[in-house]
Amino acid sequence: MFEHYEVFARVGESTDIVQKEMYDFEDRGGRRLALRPEGTGSVVRAFVEHRPTTPWKVWYVAPNFRAESPQAGRYRQHHQVGVEAVGTMDPDLDVEVIALLDAFFRALGLRRYRLLLNSLGDPESRATYLDVLRRFLEAHSDELSAQSRQTLALNPLRVLDSKRKEDVQVIANAPRMIEHLSAEAGAHFDRVQSGLHAVGVAYEIAPLLVRGLDYYTRTTFEFVADSLGSAQNAIGGGGRYDLLAEQMGGPPTPGIGFGSGIERTLLACDAEGVFPAPSSTVDAFVVDVVDGTHALALTSELRSAGVRADRAFDQRSMKAQMKQADRSGAALTLIVGEQEVADRTVTLRRMADAVQETVPREKVVEVVRQGLPS
Ligand code: HAM
Repeated sequence: MFEHYEVFARVGESTDIVQKEMYDFEDRGGRRLALRPEGTGSVVRAFVEHRPTTPWKVWYVAPNFRAESPQAGRYRQHHQVGVEAVGTMDPDLDVEVIALLDAFFRALGLRRYRLLLNSLGDPESRATYLDVLRRFLEAHSDELSAQSRQTLALNPLRVLDSKRKEDVQVIANAPRMIEHLSAEAGAHFDRVQSGLHAVGVAYEIAPLLVRGLDYYTRTTFEFVADSLGSAQNAIGGGGRYDLLAEQMGGPPTPGIGFGSGIERTLLACDAEGVFPAPSSTVDAFVVDVVDGTHALALTSELRSAGVRADRAFDQRSMKAQMKQADRSGAALTLIVGEQEVADRTVTLRRMADAVQETVPREKVVEVVRQGLPS
């Protein structure tokens, strides 16, 4: 959850994620720490520190912290499931990583999403493009927002990320990275596209997709859910970061990965209705109108047998306890009164149709287990 501040200072010099949204503080030992805003920086820091054999393929599920303005689908603490694959430049790895995230969404049952794909080029093509882009944006700086004019000085690419009205018009006519790829970066991008085609993953080229972190090179991608509002519709994204290990003081080592927001993915699942909400959280409810000791023993036995069980407390009346049983949504209610105690039985009531049967006390847990849908 914590990371050295410097790790992110490097990966996000010109990004909102690091400059404006990162929580950082000094710990008791005077170290500057950050609450981790994302996972890739930490994974690459660990790679540089421990130098595992490559290709090194790892995954994580972790909380991330960003001081954004909270709204539906955008939180100050969110969780990501992510993968990183470090150590090869092979475009087939890009295909593997992208196809994995696509398969994950498909396996969840999601259908209404699209894969946006772009290439940010290699250092050589990037330098040429940045020059062209900077010149274009400077020529239109009067039309840009004040924020974008500032961003332009730091990193003209970031301007393409702006959603501000005045910027959008300028951006629409801006030169595109994919028109300025070097022969090598172009060939890489072609191979990624033919690979995606070969494994049956549909994509759209999105020349303005720049992503919110500075480390990206070559392939970048984002999965957007059409069922969510456009400001928070990215359910996962990632790309190559071929220079990052070296920037962190390690040997030059390319890498690619993705992070997918768990909360947003679940919102998309809800919007598409892909998993039914559980109808209840309890299978069996115990009503004890004697003294509570039977409820204590029975719930404990039921839970040990794997039955989700609950009970009433405070020795309330039969009527009040039955009302609670009804509200719990349990399929079965176990009733223990004076008569049942005397007979060493339990009355079992099927809540759906109020049919009751009397079962010997020592058999009741087994009968309940069998009576529940498996
Ligand atoms: P990211 O695009 O900043 O990339 O975040 C990845 C995903 O996390 C987003 O697509 C979104 O689903 C979710 N997410 C981000 N911020 C929030 C938020 N405030 N509330 C809810 N969900 C959010 C990264 O973090 C990169 N580390 C991904 C990567 C891995 N690139 C290469 N490897």
